Amino acid sequence: MNFDNALARRVAIVEEGHTNAFRVADGLADGLPPGTAVDSFAGRWLIQTKGENPPKSLVTAAAERAVSVWWKRLDQSVKESPALLVGNDEAEAFEALEHEARYKIDFHAGYSQGIFLDQRLNRQEVRRRSDSGLRVLNLFAYTGAFSVAAALGGATTTTLDLSSPYLEWAKDNFRANDLDPAEHFFCKGDALEWLARWKKAGRTFHGIIADPPTFSRHGKSTWKVERDYAQLVNACAGVLEPEGWALFCANTHRASHRWFADEIHTGLKHTHHANSVLHEPGMPPEFASSDHLHAVWVG
Ligand SMILES: C[S@@+](CC[C@H](N)C(=O)[O-])C[C@H]1O[C@@H](n2cnc3c(N)ncnc32)[C@H](O)[C@@H]1O
Repeated sequence: MNFDNALARRVAIVEEGHTNAFRVADGLADGLPPGTAVDSFAGRWLIQTKGENPPKSLVTAAAERAVSVWWKRLDQSVKESPALLVGNDEAEAFEALEHEARYKIDFHAGYSQGIFLDQRLNRQEVRRRSDSGLRVLNLFAYTGAFSVAAALGGATTTTLDLSSPYLEWAKDNFRANDLDPAEHFFCKGDALEWLARWKKAGRTFHGIIADPPTFSRHGKSTWKVERDYAQLVNACAGVLEPEGWALFCANTHRASHRWFADEIHTGLKHTHHANSVLHEPGMPPEFASSDHLHAVWVG
């Protein structure tokens, strides 16, 4: 295995895109075993496999290119942090670039490293749509990468997540981009509860990003993507300006693109956005063997 061809196909992302966080190689289409992927975070390469350790030849080929090589087992039931295979451990978090924006990455923070690379083009589109004077809401925000994109576009952002540590991480990402967190809003809590509160208070947004997990628990209530998505869409429509836009995402192999579009149509029924044309751009080209991300733009 060598990475020459895979990297040659990604030159534009890296050089013209001013990006050093990207998927280097993705499964069969890039000559890797099925289900295996390699991501680069500012030169630290993360090999991901579904089961056993990655083949030695793959680790050796990665080590020829990378500052360090890490491995993560793709298993949602175990959710292990990456393990270092080659190079030096970095106890400190570091920064990676995507379209010139800076994001804090931490290989010691658990199963996820700080930024989901499959949302690269959606973040770019959020930035393009987020002019100054607009209010953009980022629900299920994790480390606030979509909020950073919107704020760099000029919008005033509201970043919402259940987790305080992730909201602090989001503020770090703002500061890394010379954005003052004090000029934006950060809310801790459940997305559906806050949407109901904002609707009652008459608070509206010009753009909304909703990218929830497949399952989560909050107090006595649970969120299930298959059960609750249409309700989430409807609640978002209740606080979206009539001319506003929304990005709805779901990261699941279990459901079809058809199911997802139907959930969005159901949620938008009897709202200002009922007749919106839905646009599904597909995954970024570097995810050459993947089809797990449902992402639909409304408006
Ligand atoms: C898949 S991540 C979202 C990724 C993020 N949209 C991005 O692009 O970086 C899911 C996030 O939703 C948060 N979360 C889970 N349940 C939630 C809820 N009921 N309300 C608000 N946030 C929730 C989790 O803490 C986690 O940060």
